[in-house]
Amino acid sequence: MSSAPAQIAVTGLAVMGRNLARNLARNGFRVAVHNRSQGRTDALVEEFGHEGEFVPAADLPALVESLETPRKIIIMVKAGEPTDAVIDELVPLLDEGDIVVDAGNAHFADTRRREDALKAKGLHFVGAGVSGGEEGALNGPSIMPGGSTFAYAALEPMLTKISAHVNGEACCVHVGPDGAGHFVKMLHNGIEYADMQLIAESYDLLRNVLGLSASELADVFREWNSGDLESFLIEITAEVLSQVDDSTGGPFVDVVLDQAEQKGTGRWTVQVALDLGIPVSGMAEAVFARSLSGDVVRREAAAGVLPGPANPKVEVDRDAFIEDVRHALYSSKLVAYAQGFDAIRAASDQYGWDIDLGAMAKIWRGGCIIRARFLDRIKEAYDRDANLPSLLVDDYFKEAVANGQEAWRRVVGVAAAAGVPAPGFSASLSYYDGLRAERLPASLIQGLRDLFGAHTYHRVDREGAFHLDWSGDRKEHDA
Ligand code: 6PG
Repeated sequence: MSSAPAQIAVTGLAVMGRNLARNLARNGFRVAVHNRSQGRTDALVEEFGHEGEFVPAADLPALVESLETPRKIIIMVKAGEPTDAVIDELVPLLDEGDIVVDAGNAHFADTRRREDALKAKGLHFVGAGVSGGEEGALNGPSIMPGGSTFAYAALEPMLTKISAHVNGEACCVHVGPDGAGHFVKMLHNGIEYADMQLIAESYDLLRNVLGLSASELADVFREWNSGDLESFLIEITAEVLSQVDDSTGGPFVDVVLDQAEQKGTGRWTVQVALDLGIPVSGMAEAVFARSLSGDVVRREAAAGVLPGPANPKVEVDRDAFIEDVRHALYSSKLVAYAQGFDAIRAASDQYGWDIDLGAMAKIWRGGCIIRARFLDRIKEAYDRDANLPSLLVDDYFKEAVANGQEAWRRVVGVAAAAGVPAPGFSASLSYYDGLRAERLPASLIQGLRDLFGAHTYHRVDREGAFHLDWSGDRKEHDA
């Protein structure tokens, strides 16, 4: 404990807030701590007081009082109304220039609204995405702060110090104004959803087509983790698959109910991408797959009732198929990232955020849930060309997919033949084929729209909009 003014405060001491406060204290910052029910504050100081300098506060006025100016206060409470409630209580206690940081998983539109409201009062509001779960919050998360450059400059020494580091570089950078940080965190979660779905499809295919046991599958993922796919999610997949259930002695993965839950950030990503007009098919399929898994009523009505393939036993060579699935996973994962970066670029253009895409790949290399070796390659791709139209056309990735695309196609074919759902793999492959198509069937869609609704069409050979008099002489007219 210390009587000197605190340098930063954390309010909301559930596990994420508590770990963030401990991380700050362990890194030598004096942290004021507060929680609505004081038990948590006391427990934090009692249990971890030896880790650094904590300044416990009984209420928000005391928390504000304990801080040096400009005050920096991190709110770590549930997204939505609880965050608004804390902001409303805090704002009247603050002075011009003070900085309020929301480090929860807020919707970026809420962050934009809050930033606007606080700016009108002379306060800075920073929506900071923080990824890495409990462990990351304590030992070094990836941090994606938005808001004013003034606020970032004041926070930078602390945030970069407590963030994860890769090759000595902090996994924290100023993303852009207002909601930019929370937008990028939302997209991180969308990619996290897609990545997990693709991993789950790989597991399902290898298990059903090859009949591998959970522990054999763990070995496959462990092996993959030593190559291009090296990542936190692949590493923990091997860990989950090798876990044995105490009570049954069988694989842990077999005793877990097959209904995935979701708090909402993946769904937000897809909703927002729809509004931006950016296909995020891998992420959308991941959200839908979770919804389907939880739709017990329809699953019970269909299971064992709807017929599958007459002969679901597909003959494949074990090692060759494992290698094919590895390629399908890598290529589909690349599509998810390509789509994610497209969405970030589109939002950055729409909201005037000027986001540096390469810097986002850089701060995702460590600390966060999607951290992966792959992100170095993405950073290099944007270093080569900051205006890359799609990650898929970068030379390195183009080559990687060119090497794996036949395998990817075989895997989607095997999945269909065996009746194993692979929505992530197949939607990603269709996106890839759509993107590279010289000509898409959208021409027919335009024809249909013009026939039933006089919606007009454009021609390949002349400028202008046209309409055909479908119910009359079928002659073309300028629209
Ligand atoms: C992170 C995680 C974190 C959280 C997800 C889980 O970056 O640390 O993404 O934010 O674990 O929100 O999301 P679902 O409950 O929706 O799967």
